[in-house]
Amino acid sequence: MSPSPKPGVLDIARYVGGHAHAPGVPPPVYKLSSNESALPPSPEAIEAFKSAQTSLEIYPDGGAEVLREAIGAVHGLNPDRIVCGNGSGEILTLLATAYLGPGDEAIFAEHGFMLYRIAILSSGAVPVAVPENNLRADVDAMLAAVTPRTRLVYIANPNNPTGSYLTGEELRRLHAGLPPDVLVVIDAAYAEYVRRNDFDSGIEMVSQFDNVVMTRTFSKIYGLAALRVGWAFCPASVADVLNRLRGPFNVSVPAQRAAAAALQDRKHTEQACAFNETWRDVLTTEIRKTGLRVDDSVGNFVLIHFPENGSHSARQADAFLTARGLILRGVANYGLPHCLRLTVGTEEANRKVIAALADFMKRG
Ligand SMILES: Cc1ncc(COP(=O)(O)O)c(C=O)c1O
Repeated sequence: MSPSPKPGVLDIARYVGGHAHAPGVPPPVYKLSSNESALPPSPEAIEAFKSAQTSLEIYPDGGAEVLREAIGAVHGLNPDRIVCGNGSGEILTLLATAYLGPGDEAIFAEHGFMLYRIAILSSGAVPVAVPENNLRADVDAMLAAVTPRTRLVYIANPNNPTGSYLTGEELRRLHAGLPPDVLVVIDAAYAEYVRRNDFDSGIEMVSQFDNVVMTRTFSKIYGLAALRVGWAFCPASVADVLNRLRGPFNVSVPAQRAAAAALQDRKHTEQACAFNETWRDVLTTEIRKTGLRVDDSVGNFVLIHFPENGSHSARQADAFLTARGLILRGVANYGLPHCLRLTVGTEEANRKVIAALADFMKRG
């Protein structure tokens, strides 16, 4: 007999990140497969990162106090209710660890972020994927999926990989229809990119209700994906639970310093948002001109649909683009086998994608 993991673990399909290499393809190669920032981080964040090299023998502040205070100051939040994580992914997983057990159910939208299923299964609970309505989370269907065993609902807002979002009103309707002992986790990893009046990152809801948590990340607009740092704004009781469960020094010193500095450079964040908006619109418009369907997106990526049959399939497009050094993300494992997800890249990368897709669609 050999040791075996608890039930659920072996049902997990490993998370496979976006490809980073195009073997045999001469440079330059553009990685547009993981929704990283098109722009480097703020120079101030890089300086702060470098400042961390002087005392590498010392553990970080496990409570990430300076960073939590900085987040609290920028967003107007009580730092005691902020918990920092090794990426927001760590927090999303810890929430499942804390609130789910065998026999429990957790709900998410059909094309929701892959990590939810992994986190739920790792807790021995049952993942309940709810069909979407035209690639948008369907509030009514999610509410209809609630059973006495439902303990948690994950909602990515905006969602990856569809780029769609629920309005603040829809989020509140979802919350209002759930029993008060069900935890609502609003994953707002791409919130900083959204410029829509009816969008709500969930901050107010966390302040108002005891069963709502919102997570955010420094991996996207702040351009610090390599450092792995994210945070949650929680009810006090949930912050207490997360602080008991998280690793004692879960966010490294360079990560804490760079993230705190990145927050101060508002101008850089605004520029990153404006750059993204400009190029997301150009990509959407120009790729549509090739005849392909591109969904409206509020994130730093777009979802491109390819014909199911013939010589212009998503798989063929992927190979064609990769041969030109353009790495996109196949999303078959998100239930979207005929789509590719494209991260907004540098101007050079974006122009190359547009030209390559036009060539691809012209070929026989
Ligand atoms: C919707 C969503 N949530 C969370 C994350 C995780 O981000 P991180 O762990 O880097 O903070 C991602 C990363 O792609 C994402 O797309």
